[in-house]
Amino acid sequence: MHYDFDTVIDRRNTYSIKYDPASRGKPDDVLPLWVADMDFSAPPCVIDALRSRAQHGIFGYSEPDTDYCAAVRDWFRKRFEWNVEREWLTVTPGVVNALYIAVRVLTKPGDGVVVQQPVYYPFNSAVRHTGRQLLVNELVYSTGRYSIDFEAFENKIKQAKLFILCNPHNPVGRVWTRDELMRMGEICLRYGVTVISDEIHQDFVFSGNRHFVFASLDERFANITVTCTSPSKTFNLAGLLHANIFISNETLRAQFRQEYANCGLSQPGIMGLAACEAAYSGGADWVDELVNYLAGNMSLIHEFLQTNIPKIKLVEPEGTYLAWLDCSSLGLSASELDNAITHKAKLWLSNGSIFGKGGEGFQRMNAACPRSVVHNALERLKKEFV
Ligand SMILES: Cc1ncc(COP(=O)(O)O)c(C=O)c1O
Repeated sequence: MHYDFDTVIDRRNTYSIKYDPASRGKPDDVLPLWVADMDFSAPPCVIDALRSRAQHGIFGYSEPDTDYCAAVRDWFRKRFEWNVEREWLTVTPGVVNALYIAVRVLTKPGDGVVVQQPVYYPFNSAVRHTGRQLLVNELVYSTGRYSIDFEAFENKIKQAKLFILCNPHNPVGRVWTRDELMRMGEICLRYGVTVISDEIHQDFVFSGNRHFVFASLDERFANITVTCTSPSKTFNLAGLLHANIFISNETLRAQFRQEYANCGLSQPGIMGLAACEAAYSGGADWVDELVNYLAGNMSLIHEFLQTNIPKIKLVEPEGTYLAWLDCSSLGLSASELDNAITHKAKLWLSNGSIFGKGGEGFQRMNAACPRSVVHNALERLKKEFV
């Protein structure tokens, strides 16, 4: 079966935040490649499931059933060799709200929480907005690749109660190796630090790399970890507000559920349940084709930049659909760069500095769009920066 990732779908006036430049002070004619949702239609199996749910016509209070749990369990077993148990699962309206809840459960106000920047910026907000102390371990960027300075990491972990891991890592595109995860896990264990592992990009891994579920590597890691997953990135379902959070430690799980209830949250949405079950039961081929397509988009970006705009470099992604562009050789300040990208190249990207200090001089481009759109974006860059 060949799925269609080439058709450009008009998303204006569909409640899409990505396609509403005016609401965020951007010019009307920018090409939006910022927020991390895809310009592809969800797989046919998901659309069919939502259609049949809509046709049923009743949208009452809902909860995961046996079929739902079996579909979720099979996805993780087949793709990541991770055997999840039904009791471990709490369905929430998203990963970010689960992050906020988990931060409140695993720490007290004033406690230190380690993140590794540049990183998905709600990690920073989840720490600051809950009155915890943000401890930043900067990733090391050298010869076009990011890595962890483990000595510096350990120094930060010593002062912390919690570490928020991003794997695969948005925006730098690293898929942490087994060895790196083991080292991070051992250091956290040594200092009694708990872990939130955000694995929302788990299904976007390019050939030659492998995603390891952190909690699956060692029973002791599982015991200190809240694992955040969602079908929303993989199948483009962010607007359905649905995430699967796994906690095998019974005490932590009970605390997490109590805090979840304290937010006034209870049952998950019916459409998210239907979509997730369908996606995990029948969407594997679609994902495999999608990841190949995205790898093609990334190669195009790499080659085009190398040939035409060598001052902008793609940090070779191991995973995620986010192209992390090193624009530092252009010699522009963060605001000059943003201005040139938005108002001259007419591209709406994510300014690297929002991901932390180490993101200055970078731009994040969402490459999950038809190839013709990637071409268009690259031509706009060429016109401005050559
Ligand atoms: C690492 C990471 N976590 C979480 C999210 C968002 O999750 P949700 O929409 O379920 O809150 C994103 C979206 O870009 C992300 O990149």
